Amino acid sequence: MTTVLYPGSFDPVHNGHIELVETASHLFEEVVVAALVNPGKADCLFSLEERIEFMRECFAHLANVKTTTFDGLVVDLAHEVGADFIIKGLRAVSDFESELQMAQMNAAISGVQTLFLPTASRRSFLASRLIREVARLGGSVDSMVPDVVSRRLDERFGP
Ligand code: PNS
Repeated sequence: MTTVLYPGSFDPVHNGHIELVETASHLFEEVVVAALVNPGKADCLFSLEERIEFMRECFAHLANVKTTTFDGLVVDLAHEVGADFIIKGLRAVSDFESELQMAQMNAAISGVQTLFLPTASRRSFLASRLIREVARLGGSVDSMVPDVVSRRLDERFGP
């Protein structure tokens, strides 16, 4: 059985993430999606608990997908859940440099390899950072996020 770990900030989860998890759930026997602390991102909108709540609802229809949170090294979580690989989505060339560097660092310190999956081009502009910014400033992101996130963004930033 091949288990893969899909780590990210997921602040919040959006339709690009969901597409990647659906693809991975077809390719691999087990997918663990984990909301992690990104030490480089101090300005989180949602707590880890809120992010996992959204993810649980989004992935409830996928029997081989589990969700969790973790505050530590992604490779430690990979060992804890028995992941064979880490998976990451690539939206554009701009993602590649930092993702490759993280993949190489993770392989160097643990031997765990990373597999990259491409995002569908119609969703390649989706980024949690931009979704937070647009929602905060009153723009509509309803077509880009699951309903549970859309509702919660309305509660935070709505009139
Ligand atoms: O969605 P993001 O913010 O691009 O995800 C980045 C994330 C959370 C996967 C990355 O910051 C991470 O792996 N954090 C855990 C700490 C860690 O293992 N750091 C070393 C990475 S080489």
